[in-house]
Amino acid sequence: MNQTKKFAVIGNPIQHSRSPELHQAFAKKLNITLDYDKIFSEVPAFKTTVFAFFKQGGQGMNVTVPFKEDAFLLCDVLTDRAKAAKAVNTLWSKEGKIYGDNTDGQGLVDAIHALGWSLQGAKILILGAGGATRGVVLPLAHAGAQEIVIANRTLTRATQLVADLKNQVGSTTLNACALDDLAGEFDLVINATSASLSGDALVLPDTLQFSHAYEMAYGKPSTFLAQAEQRGIPYSDGFGMLVGQAIVSFEIWNGCKPNLADFLSLK
Ligand code: ATR
Repeated sequence: MNQTKKFAVIGNPIQHSRSPELHQAFAKKLNITLDYDKIFSEVPAFKTTVFAFFKQGGQGMNVTVPFKEDAFLLCDVLTDRAKAAKAVNTLWSKEGKIYGDNTDGQGLVDAIHALGWSLQGAKILILGAGGATRGVVLPLAHAGAQEIVIANRTLTRATQLVADLKNQVGSTTLNACALDDLAGEFDLVINATSASLSGDALVLPDTLQFSHAYEMAYGKPSTFLAQAEQRGIPYSDGFGMLVGQAIVSFEIWNGCKPNLADFLSLK
């Protein structure tokens, strides 16, 4: 008899994670039975907890704040996009080895496509140069972006990120700029700063023109999205990206892919 597959998300805090609900919704839609738990880990216990989970027959694990960089460091095998992100949100075990991937960027690409926005030949501006940005640059480039500009409050972080990733983005042009020098015309602006999470205002100058706005955060008031609304352009918060990254993890583990648009109503 087949045993029910065991999955989990690990983090600290973990109480508010939507991952179990999303994975159970995918499983139900595709007629699969699975267990998906939330695992709280104290910071020093992360590695031991992961190893114990796989030793006890766990099939796959999602990793959330603050452990994505620790997860990256413990993997035996990494995908190219996990290497570029230097962070891992999806783990699985095969033949005694731990594999790691980062599905955040592809989740964002899939969420943008589900909105009916095209990335092919797009000029994209990403606000912020932290871990959230690092995780999405490669998938956006592979989705056909013509140009990606990374704008950050601290210019040196943006310049460093561009230097790190420049050789991996194929024919996409990758540039850095200071948040204070924002200008020009873009098809899409993505807010990957933590400003909305901390409740800070992010004020964009009138010299910056753009036609679509995507906020990676969700469930928080966003001055970025308020400005998009004022400009009368299409905009979205990050719930689709959350669903998208979960779907890519689900596909890695279960070999079948739920349709993102079917789950946006869970918001
Ligand atoms: P994450 O892993 O979520 O990206 P992070 O590595 O701490 O988190 O990065 C947060 C990003 O949000 C950084 O780019 C940060 O800018 P700095 O590098 O200058 O610190 C940006 N950020 C945070 N608060 C901001 C604010 N109020 N205005 C503009 N940028 C902000």
